[in-house]
Amino acid sequence: MCGIVGYIGSKDAASLLLNGIKRLEYRGYDSAGIAGMNGNGLYCHKSVGKVASLEEKVKSLNINSNLGIVHTRWATHGAPTTENAHPHLDCTGEIAVVHNGIIENCDTLKAHLEEEGHKFTSETDTEVLAHLIEKNYTGNLELAVRLTLQHVVGAYGIAVIHAKEPDKLITARNGSPIVIGIGDGEYFVASDVAPIIEHTKDVIYLDDREMAVLTKEGCTTKTIDDTPTSKKTEKILWDIDLIEKSGYDHFMLKEIHEQPESIVNAMRGRFEDGSKHIARFGGLKCDEDILKTIKRIVIIACGTSWHSGLIGEYIFEEFLRIPVEVEYGSEFRYRNPIIGKDTLVIAISQSGETADTLAGLKLAKEKGCMVLGVCNIVGSSIARESNFGIFLHAGPEIGVASTKAFTSQITVLYLFALYLAQLRGNPNKLTETVDQLRLIPDQIKKILEKEDEIVRLSELYKASENFLYLGRGFNFPVALEGALKLKEISYIHAEGMPAAEMKHGPIALITKDMPVVFIAIKDSGYQKVLGNIKEVKARGGKIIAIATEGDETLREKVDHIFFVPHTCEALTPILTVIPLQLLAYHIAVMRGSDVDMPRNLAKSVTVE
Ligand code: G6P
Repeated sequence: MCGIVGYIGSKDAASLLLNGIKRLEYRGYDSAGIAGMNGNGLYCHKSVGKVASLEEKVKSLNINSNLGIVHTRWATHGAPTTENAHPHLDCTGEIAVVHNGIIENCDTLKAHLEEEGHKFTSETDTEVLAHLIEKNYTGNLELAVRLTLQHVVGAYGIAVIHAKEPDKLITARNGSPIVIGIGDGEYFVASDVAPIIEHTKDVIYLDDREMAVLTKEGCTTKTIDDTPTSKKTEKILWDIDLIEKSGYDHFMLKEIHEQPESIVNAMRGRFEDGSKHIARFGGLKCDEDILKTIKRIVIIACGTSWHSGLIGEYIFEEFLRIPVEVEYGSEFRYRNPIIGKDTLVIAISQSGETADTLAGLKLAKEKGCMVLGVCNIVGSSIARESNFGIFLHAGPEIGVASTKAFTSQITVLYLFALYLAQLRGNPNKLTETVDQLRLIPDQIKKILEKEDEIVRLSELYKASENFLYLGRGFNFPVALEGALKLKEISYIHAEGMPAAEMKHGPIALITKDMPVVFIAIKDSGYQKVLGNIKEVKARGGKIIAIATEGDETLREKVDHIFFVPHTCEALTPILTVIPLQLLAYHIAVMRGSDVDMPRNLAKSVTVE
């Protein structure tokens, strides 16, 4: 996690860097720091907390510089203190390094460096980089960085400057993303495109074990082993307004409200010309014969993406009769999974950078599987490592709690299932239901128009300390997702589970103070859910039901009811999750949480 930005050019680097790093705060926000070159050599300032406190510290200093690096941290090695904040300096105070990732052999490297007399001032893994570069420096920063990285094991996206070479910015990556923005006589380095968009749309993405040397005059790239590389310049397709709040109080709320549009974008261009039912994926450069013959699907993901993977499992098994397993990336990668050429592995990740999902993907490729990446971020590691991929086109998701990515993931999984079914000659019910998918964006708009109802519910339950979320079938993963949303931004303990499992333990928790959210739509499990509702009611629990429009009989059986429009069973999660996203959001706001940057979390988890 952590975010880094670097700049070299003719503009005021400090203000540009501080502005840029704010756009990466979703990657971590426990401390921040900036370093650069001014007339007096290298300056470096750090502070604990968000970028705003660093900005406060720096603004009176009138730093005049055209080169610098900045960092926002999500602590891994060492507490969030000023000492542990980046940039990290070498013993001479002339070299500054910012880093995203983890140096796995830092203890061994540090021990050697300390024996040689290097003095460390932080507990971080990053500081070894600064001292190793110092050790390897013989008047050529590029060479020193390259030699250093040859000794490093682990993940890094770094930016480095040296007071003795004040016209140079060096960056490198292995496992952690680095994007270089190409301006007119200026270059930008960042962990993703968000800080770059307002300056230029032309970017290059570094590959693993690749580095770049940037001066005002140009950019050269090579591998860590000194082989020159040639890079393709790519265009960023996002506009600046996509990374602004556009009048909303929080990015999360904006992103919840963007869902009618993000789902249209997930569907756009994914039907054969002139056909309303035949799915196609223009970007899916894959061997169709393999897809026709795969016998098994394994989905790997983490967090919210894992929940959409579970819904994918229900879709693929129901409509394609292909066995599916859904694995946490972190478990999959360490348990020698039984997979092979006849297994399609689908790696789902909004950011495309989640370390455990990425490692699972690499393992699957080693074992001979085809890997389909389902990502939102173009140019991300998972998108690039997959054999073929589907993008969500949901636009940037900045709120740490994932919302629009979830509904877009379900949408593309559904369309991919349709495509696969057509390829394998059994499109059956999916073709019949695809018309309902087209209605979903307007149906979400209708749900969002009733946000006031959720605000009132939030008022009633904002002080609760526990919540249960229950659902069955396609809506069991929605129960998990509803609970996760509440936990991560409201800090309320919440559990999601299959409704029937409640009686195997959690029912003991039901009291008159326990709100229980049931996803009780009219689907094949409806009658069973009614039974579970009675069980909770009999024990005095407070029931909030997410129900199908028109289900007036349910109204009498529950304490509160929120209606969603009718759609086919497989698509209901896209609708039922919306009120749960809103409930978590409004309760969090009422409890005074920092919704877009909840404590201890980061959006992109690039560590194990
Ligand atoms: C973090 C975020 C979650 C996200 C998960 C997986 O934990 O806080 O919101 O679902 O990572 O992220 P990915 O980018 O792989 O979907």
